[in-house]
Amino acid sequence: VLRRKIIAGNWKMNKTPNEAAKFAKELAVKLNNSGAECVFCVPFVDLIPVLEAVKGTTVKVGAQNMHFEANGAYTGEISAGMLAETGVSHVIIGHSERREYFAETDEAVNKKAIQALSNSLIPIICVGEKLYQREQGITFDLVRMQTRIALKDISAKTAENVVIAYEPIWAIGTGKTATAEQAEEVCKAIRAVLSEIYDETTAGKIRIQYGGSVSPANAKELFSMPDIDGGLVGGASLKMDFEQIVCY
Ligand code: G3H
Repeated sequence: VLRRKIIAGNWKMNKTPNEAAKFAKELAVKLNNSGAECVFCVPFVDLIPVLEAVKGTTVKVGAQNMHFEANGAYTGEISAGMLAETGVSHVIIGHSERREYFAETDEAVNKKAIQALSNSLIPIICVGEKLYQREQGITFDLVRMQTRIALKDISAKTAENVVIAYEPIWAIGTGKTATAEQAEEVCKAIRAVLSEIYDETTAGKIRIQYGGSVSPANAKELFSMPDIDGGLVGGASLKMDFEQIVCY
């Protein structure tokens, strides 16, 4: 199966709308028609200016979170329908920072993924272990469980649209990248779980990203691994040399 690479920048809580629009416009021109699918995942208030800024290029725009209900009394929240109507195509779900600081559970991740998919948004579902969990030797069990719960009640046909991002938490923002072999062995295990949940064909279509201190220096090696279909990039997506990661 030929899976198209997908490289997403997660800007996290950075760049005001004006800064975002200026940066996105300049960078999108450089990334236009790059072979990989390229997505800028930006703060909510930056979505509309960034959508405007990338217009006419192949760059897509994503959000970093959403609520799992369609609407209602959830002060401060944003729905999948709201995102979809603005022209957003992707949404990061269950990022480790949301799990850690906003108590997001695997069950919430599952509900959000279902809601995103029913609004035709592509969910980028994040999974990954903490350092002590790796040291305890439970990385594979944990990531398998996170993946299984996230995809509960999602059919094989629908799941083909899902992107899974494997992000070892100890590698996020630390400059400590997992080696390409470490990243590959977990991504391969995720694909094996996908095969168990669905079937080999479906598992072969679902894209799995690596995230955690991806940089121009290590992107090529990571993205060349057989089960790594691109990356979820934090810090390095805020600079113009994100181009070197996309066009590795
Ligand atoms: O979503 C992106 C990840 O959290 C990785 O962040 O590239 O700054 O390590 P980082």
